[in-house]
Amino acid sequence: STASNFDYSANLFPLSSSTAPGYAPLGAPTSAAQRHGGLGGASLEKHKTLTYLNGLGLIVGLIIGSGIFSSPSQVNVNVGSPGASLVVWAIAGVLAWTGAASYAELGGAIPLNGGAQVYLSKIMGELAGFLFTWVAVLVLKPGSAAIIAIIMGEYLVRAFIGAEAEHINPWVGKGVGLAGLFIITFLNCVSTRLGTRINDALMFLKFIALVGVTVVGIVVALTGFSFSGEANTEWKNHQWFEGTSTDGSHWAVALYAGLWAYDGWDNTNYVVGEFRNPSRDLPRVIHTAMPLVIIGYLLANFSYFLVLPKEILNSTNTVAVAFGSKVFGPAGALVFALIVSASCFGSLNSTAFTSSRLVYAAAKEGFIPSFAGRIGFGSPDRNVSTRRSGRLSKRFRNMVGDEETGLFFTPVNALILNTLLTTAYMVVGEFSELLTFYGVAGYSFYFLTVLGLIILRVKEPHLERPYKTWITTPIIFCCVSLFLLSRAVFAQPLKTLIVVAFVLTGIPIFFWRIQGRDQVAKRETGMREVPTWQFWKRWSQT
Ligand code: ARG
Repeated sequence: STASNFDYSANLFPLSSSTAPGYAPLGAPTSAAQRHGGLGGASLEKHKTLTYLNGLGLIVGLIIGSGIFSSPSQVNVNVGSPGASLVVWAIAGVLAWTGAASYAELGGAIPLNGGAQVYLSKIMGELAGFLFTWVAVLVLKPGSAAIIAIIMGEYLVRAFIGAEAEHINPWVGKGVGLAGLFIITFLNCVSTRLGTRINDALMFLKFIALVGVTVVGIVVALTGFSFSGEANTEWKNHQWFEGTSTDGSHWAVALYAGLWAYDGWDNTNYVVGEFRNPSRDLPRVIHTAMPLVIIGYLLANFSYFLVLPKEILNSTNTVAVAFGSKVFGPAGALVFALIVSASCFGSLNSTAFTSSRLVYAAAKEGFIPSFAGRIGFGSPDRNVSTRRSGRLSKRFRNMVGDEETGLFFTPVNALILNTLLTTAYMVVGEFSELLTFYGVAGYSFYFLTVLGLIILRVKEPHLERPYKTWITTPIIFCCVSLFLLSRAVFAQPLKTLIVVAFVLTGIPIFFWRIQGRDQVAKRETGMREVPTWQFWKRWSQT
């Protein structure tokens, strides 16, 4: 058979040999996780609910979170001039776009839940996939969620008590953030559809916010008018390119700050398996989302520059609130604080959704204990038990429930695990540390995965790729991310070393987990070789 006929889901998520004819030995469960996790029909991938619009809501909703409303000052300070800042925002955006386009190709070729975990496993071997999972599940996903949740809490507090918020105990903000996190977790446990509806709604809010900032900024700049009574001609004072930094390290730091605002572009890939039509919709989602976000960010930044003076632009961590208050006075500050916290809420919601799918996929692979991958409240022996929504009103059922699956047909344990870790980071977290770790570890794996695309092109030229990006796309991405990583190594050798050390601690864990898993598989199938490895060999021969 040709690669194009190869049914990945039948082999990686084997139900029985009868559903995967011709692949009987491969169809056997490879792990305890696969036997218990969600078999007996309870597999998320069997219920393909995501549409193009959901995908768009998911990715845009995740990308537009805290960054564009708070981190522009880090870009401004480092590159020194408004014009150069806009250039950085454009470069960061295009870099994110090339990454996303590369991931779209991988997602089409290997249409499974799990993102980089599956691509790395299939292309560079399971160890690489495992190390990604190790870092992502333990640090990257909960760490980034913690950052967003705290920012959400801080803005909400600020909205209600105004500038006083500066002096208030930081635990108030953290508490509010935690409350938001728990609400999101609960909603995502109840139903997939509920989570995606929130995404769709908040995506529009975010676009309105960005468009609002832009329109207001331009009107204010043209007329010099502002509701707060302060006449506004700020833009006339800017020297657009004067003072531009020529130091590569400064540019790298600025790029990292910009990239945080664009981060999340890989997230639709975690849920590819739940798309109704992944090969059509994944690239469509990415090629709509990325240009929209890039244009939105450039316009919003332009607008900040039109309205705000340089001192504020270079120092504030809440640029959107400064913008609102400059133009509309205290009421504007309040509205913008609310918008930003809503934006973070949406981002957190999308993160919860996709992170739980990563955990779920990892459990299915046997990478992490099987309970984490279970759907609903099922016991390992009785498959799934979800709550029927039969007694609820039709309207409500339509909103939250899948008629077919009932409530709580979601990776409940995965959601809870992710929330517990996020909570831990919120409690003990040191953000600048988390952010450094995030940048270095995150971009190392992005780099490896996109490199994997190039390797796959060479090794598997005939593999069916429903979407194929230009080969320059992954090459650009690899070069720029290599530049960023090398800068980090030279600028902060000790921290980078810590990151590397942490990644490497995953190696013994890998052998421990995989050995256990493969012993079970060998016992059950009577095969001398490990099914997944067989699967890989077969896959690479086709
Ligand atoms: N871009 C988002 C923001 O500006 C951060 C996304 C963090 N990444 C993630 N995978 N959760 O807040």
